[in-house]
Amino acid sequence: MQPTPLHIKGGRALSGEIAVQPSKNAALPIIVASLLSSEPVTLHGVPRLSDVQTILDLAQHIGTRHTWVGPHSLILHTPEVLHTDAPYALVSKMRASFIIMGALLARAGAATVSMPGGCAWGPRPVDQHVKAFRALGVEVSEDGGNFDARRASSLNGRFVFELLTVGGTQNAILAAVLGDGTVTLENASIDTDVVDLINFLNSLGADIEGTGTNTLTIRGVPALHGGEYTVIPDRIEAGTFMIAAAATRSRITLTNVRPDHLRALSSKLMEMGVDILETDDRLVVDAEGRELKPVNLTTQSFPGFPTDLQPQMSALLATVPGTSVVQDPVYPDRLTHVAELHRMGANITVSGYTQVIQGGPLHAAPVKAADLRAGAALFIAALTTPGETVIDGVQYLNRGYENLAERLRSVGANAVQPLPMLASAMD
Ligand code: EPU
Repeated sequence: MQPTPLHIKGGRALSGEIAVQPSKNAALPIIVASLLSSEPVTLHGVPRLSDVQTILDLAQHIGTRHTWVGPHSLILHTPEVLHTDAPYALVSKMRASFIIMGALLARAGAATVSMPGGCAWGPRPVDQHVKAFRALGVEVSEDGGNFDARRASSLNGRFVFELLTVGGTQNAILAAVLGDGTVTLENASIDTDVVDLINFLNSLGADIEGTGTNTLTIRGVPALHGGEYTVIPDRIEAGTFMIAAAATRSRITLTNVRPDHLRALSSKLMEMGVDILETDDRLVVDAEGRELKPVNLTTQSFPGFPTDLQPQMSALLATVPGTSVVQDPVYPDRLTHVAELHRMGANITVSGYTQVIQGGPLHAAPVKAADLRAGAALFIAALTTPGETVIDGVQYLNRGYENLAERLRSVGANAVQPLPMLASAMD
């Protein structure tokens, strides 16, 4: 059953503290990586999101048992691999599941994984994943909508990625961890989610050198042991709340945050006139009473401005008088928020991957999220405008934001998600 729409009556400032959830995009590959060990692995900092459930369903199909032992803590155990396939029904739900291929290659030497296809905002190729596998000695064939991958021996050799890819880097790392070969990956992603995966694997006994740099050396080891690990906080969730604070000209404090993961956003917000105060794991965003300035931005791989915050920034800039230009070359079609923001009175002109935004006040309207971050842009826009905005497509928000309505209320927003109507006894 689809969740009911989110109702937001905005136009009021937010205040107080909000604890950032653990990272979705770091937790997903780490859950997959846990199946490289035949011993139990305890993970802390796993967000309760529908995407996490999807990856757990896939892992269960492969042979991983899991038990929740706390609100964000989970024990995963894969004593043996029962299946080496990842069927379309599971992979098509979430593109990130494609990295099961690397984990299966490492643990079982073979994998049949459905081609992931695109998503709501355009094509999302996996050519770099496949090129990396082939260059490192894996045989990969395509048949009937599946990739069939097999390795006769340990992965060995060198691969230079043609572009920075988070998932491609993670997939190649996973495939190379077990065995007796040595793999060098160049032009590897230095995204926080890649670094967290490497730290997790090394904590179980993997030998990966070069963490946080573009050149990684992975020396195969015979096996990984079990262990315990805490996933990093979610920088995209944190960033979304920072942008919400700026859009509502508010002051809020984020806890459980890594300010060093958010510098590109913090710099942009400061350029607009927002104050940002960082301490170890807290961050204060202060836009109270500010007249913000328009800015231009272009998305890039980490540590540049993240594409996953582009729609939210567009919503913020749609409220800031003056002209801003937002460009997203990472995902040129990531624009499903634009038509919905138009319904709220935004003045955004699109040409290719460029949005030219003339800021001004927005108004409430019924809108529909077509994907996760577009949904985030819509709730930010809704928070700025008096009147009630009803946001449909909440199943997308549930993929990335935990208990959203409740947590927005905790910082003073008027956000409710009515329970579904029970069928009447007469029906
Ligand atoms: N690309 C290729 N070929 C490939 C792989 C990627 O051309 O084989 C291109 C993509 O089309 C894109 C760029 O490389 O232009 C970067 O894609 P990347 O592989 O880094 O993305 P991903 O690993 O598939 C993760 C996040 C996304 C986030 C991107 C970019 C997860 C589960 N997903 O995807 O998060 O947008 O990195 O930072 O980690 C989200 O959370 O809303 C989300 C979509």
